[in-house]
Amino acid sequence: MKEIHEYEVRNMIRMAQDAMKRAYVPYSKFHVGACLKAASGAYYLGCNIENAAYGPTNCAERTAMFKAVYEGERKFDALAVIWDGDTYSVPCGVCRQVLAEFCDGDMPVICANNKGEYQVRSLKELLPYAFTKEDLV
Ligand code: THU
Repeated sequence: MKEIHEYEVRNMIRMAQDAMKRAYVPYSKFHVGACLKAASGAYYLGCNIENAAYGPTNCAERTAMFKAVYEGERKFDALAVIWDGDTYSVPCGVCRQVLAEFCDGDMPVICANNKGEYQVRSLKELLPYAFTKEDLV
């Protein structure tokens, strides 16, 4: 896994915590925040945005990723996710696939809980055998 300093982990969790406050969650009431660091050095924040039809709900991770890609970013160094539960946050399967489109398998994914405790896993650990452009032959 690509190295990430403890200081940077804390910094990204703090930003993800701020992002979590913007969650639009009238249905699940489950707040999620994400902080994605691009190779440019810029940070992109996201929250989950729910919908009365449930299916169109967008996770915090994808909100951050789509904001970044729109701004022209194509490479990423790390992702932090936090939610208001006491278990460690982990990106859902759809978000893992979206991350695999732009992020290397060795990118650290910081998974935090509501106390700010965390575990770090590589994207490849979360999504082995990802479907990528190399499979489109
Ligand atoms: N959610 C996220 O934002 N990220 C995840 O990786 C897991 C789930 C959101 C979607 C929905 O608004 C709420 O959490 C409950 O599933």
